[in-house]
Amino acid sequence: MLDSVASRTAHRVAVRRAEHQVLDTPRIFEDPLSLRIIEPESRAKIQPGRVNRKQRLTKSFRAYMALRSRWAEDELAKAVGQGIHQYVILGAGLDTFAYRNPHEGLKVFEVDHPATQAWKTQRLAEEGIPVPESVRFVPAHFERETLAEELAGTDFHPNEPAFFAWLGVTPYLTDRAFEETLRFVAACPVGSGIAFDYQIPRTSLNPMESMALDALSLHVANAGEPFQLFFEPEPLQARLLTMGFHSLEDLGRDQMNTRYYAGRADALRVKGNLARLMRASV
Ligand SMILES: C[S@@+](CC[C@H](N)C(=O)[O-])C[C@H]1O[C@@H](n2cnc3c(N)ncnc32)[C@H](O)[C@@H]1O
Repeated sequence: MLDSVASRTAHRVAVRRAEHQVLDTPRIFEDPLSLRIIEPESRAKIQPGRVNRKQRLTKSFRAYMALRSRWAEDELAKAVGQGIHQYVILGAGLDTFAYRNPHEGLKVFEVDHPATQAWKTQRLAEEGIPVPESVRFVPAHFERETLAEELAGTDFHPNEPAFFAWLGVTPYLTDRAFEETLRFVAACPVGSGIAFDYQIPRTSLNPMESMALDALSLHVANAGEPFQLFFEPEPLQARLLTMGFHSLEDLGRDQMNTRYYAGRADALRVKGNLARLMRASV
């Protein structure tokens, strides 16, 4: 990512969540604030009953964006049910969970690139979205600082379990930053866990999926945020176990669609095997 520029990809994925609120019935992810936090020009293009060409072409991308956020919040709810009081959103972008947090007593740490975070807090203020007392903003650059160092400056309790979400971030990192962050999570107390997504290498994709990845890669590279990290599921699973995670759940496209999009009349679903969801527990 460029140092002084807020993440454009963060805006793009937030727009997809906002579109889901208006264009899809039934919704699988309830996020009314997504419509407020995106830029007003993008919001104006989201009209009920009027699906434009771009929205038609990105339907499956929208399905994935709504799904991964819903899944992370479902996993968080399970963790809260097991007594977790700390939620760390890594690379939070325009995620709105913290501003509609239904879990009493849950502290939310939003960790993000300083420029993205500054833009987000500005958007929150511009839209008059109240920031609850439970929210902590932690500016951090995953390539330069460790999560341990950054969280040490907050009231995060390293001796208590925590749940982490890391959505749409790993493809933009170096392997070193990926490893360091996961090692921090793996060293958290038993009961901790992380939900993240990751991308499959081009060599394992079919021709249609490769074309989709090429288009997406070009798009993000033009935004100054090139993809650089991909994983095959099995070696990644082995690596996580070596790091000290004890149980894993790794969801591919079909499992995602079965869980969240079964039986729909509007054919909203994730297409292609470009990305997967990983839940790793300590
Ligand atoms: C595609 S956005 C995803 C945002 C959010 N998780 C979501 O799902 O809406 C990528 C996020 O990763 C953050 N990011 C990327 N590289 C980073 C780095 N090296 N250090 C800190 N944050 C980074 C960006 O600032 C941005 O918020």
